[in-house]
Amino acid sequence: MKLSSSYLILSLTWISYSSALVIPNINDLVTAETTKSASSSISYYQSVLAGYLPSFFNQENVIELKSDENNDINTDFESWIHRQKDISFQGILNNIGGISSTLSESEVSEGAVIASPSRIKPDYFYQWTRDAALTIKSLIHHIDDEKFKNVEPVKNIIESYIENNYYIQRLDNLSGKFDDESKSGLGEPKFYPNNKPFEKNWGRPQRDGPGLRAITILSYISLLNKHQESFSNQFLNNQTSVYEEIIKPDLIYIIKNWYKEGFDLWEEINSHHFYTSITQLSALKSALIFIQENNYPESNEFLTQLNQTFNNLKQFIEFDSGYKSNTLPYIIETPSLLKLGKRCGLDAGTLLGVLHAHNIEFGNYDDIPFDIDNNYLINTLSAMIADMKYRYPINHPKIGFENAIGVALGRYPEDIYDGYGTSEGNPWFISTASGSEIIYKFIHKLISMKQDIVINQQNKEFFKQFIDFDKIPAQDLVSAKDSDSDSNANADVIIRFGSQSYKTLAINLSSFSDSFLEIVKDHVDNNGSMSEQFNKYHGFMQGARDLTWSYSAVWNAFRWREKTLQILESNF
Ligand code: NOJ
Ligand code: NOJ
Repeated sequence: MKLSSSYLILSLTWISYSSALVIPNINDLVTAETTKSASSSISYYQSVLAGYLPSFFNQENVIELKSDENNDINTDFESWIHRQKDISFQGILNNIGGISSTLSESEVSEGAVIASPSRIKPDYFYQWTRDAALTIKSLIHHIDDEKFKNVEPVKNIIESYIENNYYIQRLDNLSGKFDDESKSGLGEPKFYPNNKPFEKNWGRPQRDGPGLRAITILSYISLLNKHQESFSNQFLNNQTSVYEEIIKPDLIYIIKNWYKEGFDLWEEINSHHFYTSITQLSALKSALIFIQENNYPESNEFLTQLNQTFNNLKQFIEFDSGYKSNTLPYIIETPSLLKLGKRCGLDAGTLLGVLHAHNIEFGNYDDIPFDIDNNYLINTLSAMIADMKYRYPINHPKIGFENAIGVALGRYPEDIYDGYGTSEGNPWFISTASGSEIIYKFIHKLISMKQDIVINQQNKEFFKQFIDFDKIPAQDLVSAKDSDSDSNANADVIIRFGSQSYKTLAINLSSFSDSFLEIVKDHVDNNGSMSEQFNKYHGFMQGARDLTWSYSAVWNAFRWREKTLQILESNF
């Protein structure tokens, strides 16, 4: 295919655009001529780009990768999802000791979750507390969906994960000790999968791990109670012992350390981070729910500490931290970097933080700020798209598209980690999948809460991509004064729940959500394998292969798609 002149101009625009630190306007600034179609076929990118970017095809890393040229881009989307969901689930299990058929017992302890089987370039053959907690949570959702039928091996491996964490919590390590006053050792980010501490330089401590682990284990307990099940693992014994020995130390860690700086989820910056704070807050909430729902005999003193920390941390997140700025419409992941002018604050860590902190299947998380329908969150996603549409050349065919369409998303605009070392950042599967999951959860919440759709100054730019406000028939609108909520007084338009316009909007939003999954489909290989990233120029996967977290994030998005399509089809 010949490189068209409009494409070249766009690419050159992108080069100058990406060299500066860009604080994007959430409105799409460029009204460039669109390319013929938004179909993101890899072969299309390759033939277009190969002409003028030969150096990227000569990179050693790229040549080593499995080719995805056999990935049949014409495979029907629905059947692909069906297949890929199973592959993704198996991809998680393959990376857990004791259930994997490829990992040896001597190298990976039972219940330990490796981030990836890759041992060199890059070496991800470790158990990260974060990755493990997040990916085990997908297994927990699976058991819930299956109502505990035929899930024995998965149930056992979740319990082995909990047991394994009892041991690693107690290891002395370079972040500190288990037994000191602040339980400093729990901030250690990763361990060898045979339960040995990792004693080389690393971005430590990372203070999100204990909270994520507590959320996961408390979710599991909540599920056991919901289905009147109990632990099968002899070592774990019962809920009281798991709470006292494993969950409570993590809660104490949060109580003692939440206000301290630490490394972010990307392991690079020592500061305060939205992802860490919001997931810590969610862990405290999960504990409070557990105590209340089970009448757990927790001491008044500890209960007071939990409640006080919850309130202080919530105040910090909403007001004192700078995660919400008066001038920017999106959530700021690391306010100190914005202040220094080093970053614009946009970061997929905020999208992931919101997803991981609103644990709605397991209780009422209403008082965790920045829920799925929060305008700052929606604007964060829009701003990420607005930036990365230009930043990553594989997204360029989407420029100028009139309707909202998902693009490949990376970690943050200024990223330079390429999956092996540092050069240039790329799109990641976990970020792209989170675009889809957010929108599906958003639609699900709107419909299940029977909410009218309230359009105001803050979210107008987002919604106008899905519906023409001027064409909404009068019977589909609610007038602001008839609305029962005061907060609707400033609404520009309120679309009536269940009206035809409401349904059209919901369907358009779900196509938008699917468009992120279409991107995932284009970049996995023929076997459905997923690594960490895919190259921003030619789309081939790179970075750690078979990344457990990629499988889990994509599986989660599929799961929310199913739930939301069910509710959409229920003729609400
Ligand atoms: C490895 C970390 O895991 C990754 O997140 C980070 O970007 C790079 N190190 C930076 O070199
Ligand atoms: C690098 C990522 O930045 C980090 O978040 C993750 O925990 C590790 N890789 C392991 O997957």
